[in-house]
Amino acid sequence: MAASHPLGTLTAEEAYIWEKLDLRRLPKHVAVIMDGNGRWAKRRHLPRIAGHRRGAETVRLTIETCARLGVEALTLYAFSVENWRRPKTEVDYLMQLLREYIRREMPLLQKNGIRMKFIGRLNELSEAVQRAAREAMEETAGNKGMLLCVALNYGGRAEILDALNAILEERKASGAQERVTEVQFGKHLYTSGMPDPDLLIRTSGEMRVSNFLLWQIAYSEIFVTDTLWPDFTRARLLESLVEFQKRERRYGGIAAESEAEEGEQSRTADR
Ligand code: FPP
Repeated sequence: MAASHPLGTLTAEEAYIWEKLDLRRLPKHVAVIMDGNGRWAKRRHLPRIAGHRRGAETVRLTIETCARLGVEALTLYAFSVENWRRPKTEVDYLMQLLREYIRREMPLLQKNGIRMKFIGRLNELSEAVQRAAREAMEETAGNKGMLLCVALNYGGRAEILDALNAILEERKASGAQERVTEVQFGKHLYTSGMPDPDLLIRTSGEMRVSNFLLWQIAYSEIFVTDTLWPDFTRARLLESLVEFQKRERRYGGIAAESEAEEGEQSRTADR
């Protein structure tokens, strides 16, 4: 009997994209700026919150797909430090949606062995949201599968400042004066211990990083799609992974092929 597919039953479109995907070269860490919920709703003459509700369905599909594929970490930008500028009703709805989401999706998280983490200035959130986040982390702490990291009241600059201030505090106590290295700095970021994102996905076409993981995305491949977040189906996610695999990551060096060619040329010149 044929082994069952990791993603269950595929549509014809998903099967077509699946054929192009190399499972041995998946990104370890995928980060997502989920944008376009409001526009999705507006196009349908619906209130913005209807877009967020639909967006939460896409979140579920994305989490499940990444976990089943064996992606190590998925970071989702759920609420930024700038998002407080939205109408209070929308902010309240988003916070409530998050709490409900955690409660409702706990069986899915457990079934897929997902561990949850939250990053951002959580202490500025309501006690109810903080409790929900704390409980989700505690309940999933023993899981060994994908790390699901939700950025909540998150800002990249705020994170860098928090790391800097933590280092200054430590130094006040220890009196240490040597220069801080990148590795030491990384250990003070909210994402300490996580690999940097290999792939950053942004939906709804905006060419911005919007204060997201500013330090960590230094070498990430960026994939921007015009698709609005609620329409970002499993096929679109698989497509972004195929696109990632077409990119050549050089980290400031030169292409492996050019390196080999250069080596060959210098060997020929030596002869
Ligand atoms: C951006 O769309 C989306 C957000 C600010 C919120 C993202 C939240 C969710 C998808 C809901 C649940 C999340 C989790 C993790 C359970 P926008 O409102 O900025 O869209 P617009 O740019 O079209 O107005």
